[in-house]
Amino acid sequence: MIRTTFSELLGIDVPIVQAPIGAASTAQLVAAVSDAGGLGMLSGSWREPDELRALIADIQSRTERAFGVNLGLAWDQAERLAICLDAGVPVVSFFWGDPSTFVEEVHAAGAVVMQTIGSAEDARRQVANGVDVLVAQGWEAGGHVWGEVATMALIPAVVDAAGSVPVIAAGGIGDGRGMAAALALGAQGVWLGTRFLASIESAAHHVYKGAVIAADEAATAYTTLFDGGWAAPHRVLRNSTYRAWEAAGRPAQGRRPGEDEQLATNADGSAVRRYDDAKPVEGISGDVEALSLYAGQSAGLVHDVRPSAQIVFDLADEAERALRRALSTFGE
Ligand SMILES: Cc1cc2nc3c(=O)[nH]c(=O)nc-3n(C[C@H](O)[C@H](O)[C@H](O)COP(=O)(O)O)c2cc1C
Repeated sequence: MIRTTFSELLGIDVPIVQAPIGAASTAQLVAAVSDAGGLGMLSGSWREPDELRALIADIQSRTERAFGVNLGLAWDQAERLAICLDAGVPVVSFFWGDPSTFVEEVHAAGAVVMQTIGSAEDARRQVANGVDVLVAQGWEAGGHVWGEVATMALIPAVVDAAGSVPVIAAGGIGDGRGMAAALALGAQGVWLGTRFLASIESAAHHVYKGAVIAADEAATAYTTLFDGGWAAPHRVLRNSTYRAWEAAGRPAQGRRPGEDEQLATNADGSAVRRYDDAKPVEGISGDVEALSLYAGQSAGLVHDVRPSAQIVFDLADEAERALRRALSTFGE
């Protein structure tokens, strides 16, 4: 069994975190990962207050183990944070902004603060702010990408800067070999988005899951193309929308092919436009393939849709075998 300071801190069995994956992170997914001994993480950033309360209660009815809620600081999260802390959420993870005004409040509620960073300088700043765990997100990550350094170079630099604060590696990890590598680089745990997107419990649309499974490691792009709703760098599959924009000579916003065209309809009847930032989930109807299909380079390592508990067990088992194999290369 792989144990680290991070797994000890949270009382989890294995240092594996299911990354928040927008609306695809369901209560079922979060609870199944936590129940399997990892740490499930709900995306809270864009939920209405009542929906967030209900999702947290749903998770708590499914598992007694620790889980987290992720809040993006590109938006005001004071109300959502209060909802989390009132409900007794044990871990709060922040992304895309400065968490310093919230750290004391989270600690006063007895919860742990995680912060996503993208450089050693970022790491030093957040250690000084009092965060408990750093999530170092490499450039190969799926979804919105904060930094520009690849995981392999980022993790050791952040570990050196973090002192005794545990560092969790995010980006490019799709199987136990990646987890073993992250641990060898000094990380105390791993954080996977794309792998858990292709799980039974994820709400990602089946066409989206199929596209992730079909993708190889070269199938994604780091871009700002899907800017409807939130204009920030992200990594997506190079789908028909991306290819058409490339073929048109990569024109600027306002002159792109099919600008403002409605491609799909959400379950609530609202329109989804070609360059919208929404993650397609089950219930959406229309041309799902052409929407923003966030995924990391790790998609090349994801070949099937598995139960999320199985993903946790397989990762831990493969990582242990990979580490033993690496050790066996030593002579007497
Ligand atoms: C569909 C999707 C949605 C994401 N949404 C969030 C989010 O809401 N908050 C966040 O902190 N990170 C989000 N991320 C980024 C992940 O936290 C993580 O950094 C990334 O998935 C790691 O790379 P990987 O996909 O190769 O595992 C998202 C990633 C994906 C693929």
